[in-house]
Amino acid sequence: MFTPQGPTLRELTVQALSSVEHGYDLLAPKFEATPFRTPDRILTAVARALEELGPFDTGLDLCCGTGAGLPVLRSVCAGRVTGVDFSTNMLAEARRRHPTATLVRADALALPFTAAFDLAVSFGAFGHFLPDEQRTLFAGVHAALRPGGTLAFPLPAPPPVGSRAYWALWAFDTAMRVRNAVWRPPFVMYYRTFRLPDVRAHLEETGFQVTHQPLPAFGTRPDGSPNCRLVVARKG
Ligand SMILES: C[S@@+](CC[C@H](N)C(=O)[O-])C[C@H]1O[C@@H](n2cnc3c(N)ncnc32)[C@H](O)[C@@H]1O
Repeated sequence: MFTPQGPTLRELTVQALSSVEHGYDLLAPKFEATPFRTPDRILTAVARALEELGPFDTGLDLCCGTGAGLPVLRSVCAGRVTGVDFSTNMLAEARRRHPTATLVRADALALPFTAAFDLAVSFGAFGHFLPDEQRTLFAGVHAALRPGGTLAFPLPAPPPVGSRAYWALWAFDTAMRVRNAVWRPPFVMYYRTFRLPDVRAHLEETGFQVTHQPLPAFGTRPDGSPNCRLVVARKG
């Protein structure tokens, strides 16, 4: 599906009927050929913005998958670069592609790190966490960062209400809710549950100081607001 190298519709269906962890284990060998892998354009824009915010020493890629974000960390971190993910097979792909990175298998909701990193990034994974789980997720990242450490991630603006993209995401999330109401194990993947005001509130409740800045490469909407922001949460 999507490209000849990517998963077939059947493979994608089997994946979507699994748990998130097992689904990614199945998808791992073909993941890089899917649109779910964060595009290089986003990675480059984030790396550029982080260059202005550094320097950083150690870096963590949260829910690293096959390691798309690891070169971003390499480009702005002088020290050790680590990826964490709970899918064994995604980590195996990451290990193959990024042999010098440290790769750790763990649930992002129970991170096994304390004051270990100066920078944490995450790409394309927050839709896997229900709104109620955001505080736990952010608290774990907060604990994993050293004092003064930074969590940074790109956050696209939601599509305008009524646009084609709006209805496409609405249809996807609705299909996921129906699927999760009738099928076990659940596959949590929602596109419309990670919104700036809630995310900001949850980060601040966790103890982060939050700012955000436009990622200029993605331009602006007709009202002048950015199409994509970098959210920057600092541990005091
Ligand atoms: C869409 S992929 C994104 C991978 C990579 N960050 C990228 O941008 O290409 C989402 C990743 O999040 C991981 N993931 C989802 N929920 C997780 C959790 N609770 N703990 C650890 N990893 C998780 C999945 O295993 C998967 O590798």
